[in-house]
Amino acid sequence: MRYGIIGCGRIYQNHVRAAQLVDGIEVVGLADSDEGTLAKAVDETGLPGFSDYRQLVDAGAEAVALCLPHSAHAEVCIDLAKRGVHILSEKPLATTLDDCDRMIEACEAAKVQLGVVFQHRFNENSVILRRLIDDGDLGDLVLGTAIFQYHKAPADAAYFEWRGSIRQAGGGVLANFGVHTIDLLLWLMGPAKAAHGFIGTLSMGTEIEDTGVAAVQFESGALGTIAATLASAVDFESRLCISGTKATAVLTDSSALEVQRVDGRSATYRFDGLLDDKAYPTKAPYGRGHIDVLRDFAEAVRDGRPPASDGRSARQTQSVITKIYQQANDHGLQTARTT
Ligand SMILES: NC(=O)c1ccc[n+]([C@@H]2O[C@H](COP(=O)([O-])OP(=O)(O)OC[C@H]3O[C@@H](n4cnc5c(N)ncnc54)[C@H](O)[C@@H]3O)[C@@H](O)[C@H]2O)c1
Repeated sequence: MRYGIIGCGRIYQNHVRAAQLVDGIEVVGLADSDEGTLAKAVDETGLPGFSDYRQLVDAGAEAVALCLPHSAHAEVCIDLAKRGVHILSEKPLATTLDDCDRMIEACEAAKVQLGVVFQHRFNENSVILRRLIDDGDLGDLVLGTAIFQYHKAPADAAYFEWRGSIRQAGGGVLANFGVHTIDLLLWLMGPAKAAHGFIGTLSMGTEIEDTGVAAVQFESGALGTIAATLASAVDFESRLCISGTKATAVLTDSSALEVQRVDGRSATYRFDGLLDDKAYPTKAPYGRGHIDVLRDFAEAVRDGRPPASDGRSARQTQSVITKIYQQANDHGLQTARTT
């Protein structure tokens, strides 16, 4: 698969490195509209660089990664889908459900694949937990809780740039940061029927919310909660606790999975050292999942099937977050994007 990467900021290196580790992927170039950022990325990687992402198509890219501010995902995706290019969008799919729908429709109409980077679905412990649930080892699921506690320094204005803007980011801790944990909750518990939430900007001084909570009703009838903050004094690994009629499981992001069964048997799966890999240096919250996301995406393009993390499943995650923002707006808590 001839691959191009659009946007050479914080996450693009994970795509370059992952592409080097997956058989059958050739990176034909990078694109960034910022001259200095592009020059630095070309220098770092030795890859060809283009100031206009459309030049990647001329360079032979049949698939691209969108590593762009969230509000730019939809237009670039739709433009390239019409040119027959397969799209791997970074999370979240878009800033609004309307944009999610336009992206999904454009890709389906053009018969190109639309993947979304929810790489934590591919962590080994996430995969084990999903298999236990699918095999009925947890029994009927009754409760799923997702907890995300992260520390971001409020003074980091350079970091918050577009990420602090509701229009460009779509939202704060829920839409941008805790979105991985919310996505995992839905991937494990199944689609949500309803969500009621509150958000607040408690200590960051940003336009986006730094803290959010919600109660969720899943289509299965099971219930769940989401609690997420950027204003934690310290970082904790995010956690998911899933209770069923036969067992309870606690998934600690990428490092551990504990399962306690009603018959007294318990198991702990540990994945310490996942990040200690010279071939794939990455940051703790990003993990190693980009490699598996890209491998699955390339196979999906080759086989003409949707990727395991596709546009439609990413839309479900966006839909829950949108519902929480709508509730929050109804309570007059904060103006966040709700359409
Ligand atoms: N999966 C993960 O764990 C993870 C981690 C970090 C970021 N992300 C996601 O990756 C995406 C990018 O985030 P980032 O932190 O790398 O952002 P960033 O701001 O560091 O980089 C974005 C780059 O896109 C460029 N750009 C903007 N509009 C452009 C256009 N029209 N054409 C070409 N280039 C353009 C900017 O100049 C910038 O260099 C976001 O969706 C973000 O949520 C995912």
